[in-house]
Amino acid sequence: MAGDGIGPEVTTQAVKVLRAVLPEAETVEAPVGLAGIDARGVPLPDESLALARNCDAILFGAVGGPGEEALPRDKRPGTSLLLLREALQLYANFRPAFLFPELVGASSFKPEVVEGVDLVILRELTGDIYFGQPRGIETDASGQRYGVNTMRYTESEIERVAHAAFRAARQRRGKVCSVDKANVLETMQLWREVLIRVGAEYPDVELTHLFVDAAAMMLMRTPKRFDVIVTGNMFGDILSDAAAMLTGSIGMLPSASLGEGRTSVGQMGLYEPIHGSAPDIAGRDIANPLAAILSFAMLLRHSLGMGDKAKRVEHAVRKVLAQGYRTQDIFQPGKTMVGTAAMGDAVVQAL
Ligand code: IPM
Ligand code: MG
Repeated sequence: MAGDGIGPEVTTQAVKVLRAVLPEAETVEAPVGLAGIDARGVPLPDESLALARNCDAILFGAVGGPGEEALPRDKRPGTSLLLLREALQLYANFRPAFLFPELVGASSFKPEVVEGVDLVILRELTGDIYFGQPRGIETDASGQRYGVNTMRYTESEIERVAHAAFRAARQRRGKVCSVDKANVLETMQLWREVLIRVGAEYPDVELTHLFVDAAAMMLMRTPKRFDVIVTGNMFGDILSDAAAMLTGSIGMLPSASLGEGRTSVGQMGLYEPIHGSAPDIAGRDIANPLAAILSFAMLLRHSLGMGDKAKRVEHAVRKVLAQGYRTQDIFQPGKTMVGTAAMGDAVVQAL
């Protein structure tokens, strides 16, 4: 599902890599976003959703176009992603923020702050104010319009993402920081209570809590203190873009959205770069395809049970950076500027 804007360009590069490491893979393409609207009049055509349900994994590009916020919700390209997440119950969205040592100088932060950053934001993806009812723009008795959205989490929704966080921490450095706003919001009070309860089942994992405002500050000040950050849908959306900047460019960061669905060897998932469709640079062969390629590596690991191949792809990315290849978003003087397609070719070459 390549989608819109730079989505098709970066996905094409990831598919090149797929052909190189997994020539036997069976792939199908499905329109979503603006492409879905063009093809079938809706952001997520039924045929696209049906194909998605039939696959082990979805490699997703990006959706959205300029000015879409003014359209009705069911006509917005971005809605396709929300519908997919909901339909497939992809509640656990892993967004790693990892700084390749080669890119220390590309970050807008001081090297000593970001060198060695290696954290993952686990964003709950199918609940919260994104999906809570009631929602809408209404008119009150005096004729004034008001907007309403509802922050809402059930205990079981919090429990399942909490378990995902503790399991992930066991594979990493054994630390979970739960981010909430329990000092103000009841939903978040429940969030914290459930995190503490589930955390008791994982005595080997350290659990800490931060309010979201303090977490935003700590991410900028001492990002190395974090291992796994688990948080709700809205806070996770915001914090993950902020965390991306620690690593030099949002064009570097992959993500995996996992749910209950299983493949024969792993979890059914949707994999997408965390950057958006970037219509301003679309079609110019300048977008960074590494986030899409690294998303494919996550796909290999989590949905296809091919951790070794995933490592090969990640090493190849590391190698092209070491060789000095840079797209413009991570360019530094003395390095070799390449376009989207050339970067994809360089990764295949490195493989
Ligand atoms: C993201 C994006 C989406 C979101 C948009 C495109 C609906 O910002 O994946 O972070 O808000 O979840
Ligand atoms: Mg976002």
